[in-house]
Amino acid sequence: MAQQEQIFPPPPPLLTQKPPFEYQLLKHRAVPGIAKLDVYRANGGYKGLERAVKMQPDEVVNVVKASGLRGRGGAGFPAGMKWSFIPKGPGPKYVTCNTDESEPGTFKDHELIENNPHQLIEGVLITCYAISSENGFIYVRGEFARGIRVLKRAVEEARAAGLVGQNILGSGWNCEVVIHSGAGAYICGEESALLESLEGKRGYPRLRPPFPAVAGLYARPTVINNCETLSNVPHVLREGAEWYSKFGTEKTKGFRVYCLSGHVERPGNYELECGTTFRTLINDLGGGAWKGRNIKAFIPGGSSTPMLAPTDEVMDTPMDFEGIAARGSMQGSAGVVVIDDQTCIVGAVLRLVEFYKEESCGKCTPCREGTQWLVQMLHRLENGESREGDLELITDVGGNIAGKSFCLLGDSAPVPYNSALKLFREEFEYHITHKTCMVGPRAGKQLAGVH
Ligand SMILES: Cc1cc2nc3c(=O)[nH]c(=O)nc-3n(C[C@H](O)[C@H](O)[C@H](O)COP(=O)(O)O)c2cc1C
Repeated sequence: MAQQEQIFPPPPPLLTQKPPFEYQLLKHRAVPGIAKLDVYRANGGYKGLERAVKMQPDEVVNVVKASGLRGRGGAGFPAGMKWSFIPKGPGPKYVTCNTDESEPGTFKDHELIENNPHQLIEGVLITCYAISSENGFIYVRGEFARGIRVLKRAVEEARAAGLVGQNILGSGWNCEVVIHSGAGAYICGEESALLESLEGKRGYPRLRPPFPAVAGLYARPTVINNCETLSNVPHVLREGAEWYSKFGTEKTKGFRVYCLSGHVERPGNYELECGTTFRTLINDLGGGAWKGRNIKAFIPGGSSTPMLAPTDEVMDTPMDFEGIAARGSMQGSAGVVVIDDQTCIVGAVLRLVEFYKEESCGKCTPCREGTQWLVQMLHRLENGESREGDLELITDVGGNIAGKSFCLLGDSAPVPYNSALKLFREEFEYHITHKTCMVGPRAGKQLAGVH
């Protein structure tokens, strides 16, 4: 890849001189040019696939099961177990890689596809082999135009080297990999809407069951995994399940790309062992809150996860599925968004909920109508025009969206409000009683009627 195309700069200097972790997924930061096939192969690339095609497909599934690899798209479902749900026997089966990446605060897949495309293609191929599929699809968010170009070029390079197409590595197995550009809708990251969109239809979520493992793409058994999940797979096959499961915590194995953003000194993607603490990520590596301010709260795993206050207990929490759940939130997509103490929390919540209103696909009435109402009421609150009882009314409307729609977009919409209200109730009440913000640039200003 030409030097000027390396748009991701090297990682920012760390407070500690020693990198905390040897790059695996983000190896391109240590090995320039790894987007090219020859450089990728010289650094262990496609060794995982070479190992896989010498095994029986079931054995590959078992290696991934034993590694403890869990999905990186949000829910953390064990990858090997998901693959094992695909029925054996004749007939087409598909692998779909979810690179839609639209969750606010999440930008890891973007870096992975633009800089290390063969890692993902190898992961898709190994997954196809494991479920005896001959077709892998990588669904990429439409705005990632450069990533799509890079991936398409890499697929052609792999094809020319006999790694995609007919009789791969002399194994007798054939497999095609298709790069598909989405149209830039958050809902298309939801797995069933993604499948609809990939089939050329409007991206509406499907009613389940049936689940994709039974009737997915073109009503055939389908595995859907996130881009980072599948980018882990070559490492698992190349080094073995035992090696992989040495990293991480008891139930969350391996390494993970944490996306750090918001009011922090050094935002960016940080690849760390699963279970590293928030303190290490936000303070030691990220330099803490920017401009010498303090952290008021942070979102631990993309905007759909409840915010947390930076108490000592929370900051020392290992970033894994169980650790974060024990603090009342979720690991989600590992997008950590820092909010500083000069931020009006009501304004921040309004901005987040506006995203869900914009992105609600409109299929389910509670989500389509409810997100509109949430935004209208939060606008009123933000602008000092709320009445007594409005906080309860907002909670009530949110409660009528969650659990009442086809997909989890509706469940996510009230999350910023509910979690912020628990932590900062007095700030919300201040907007009602004082008709202005408690902190931030608009604090103390008369807001009603002037927006
Ligand atoms: C509204 C919505 C948006 C989603 N967006 C994404 C996304 O951009 N990328 C992703 O991998 N998963 C996304 N998911 C989760 C997927 O539905 C699915 O769980 C995931 O792709 C499974 O992959 P994994 O098992 O490897 O995590 C989204 C879910 C919802 C409800």
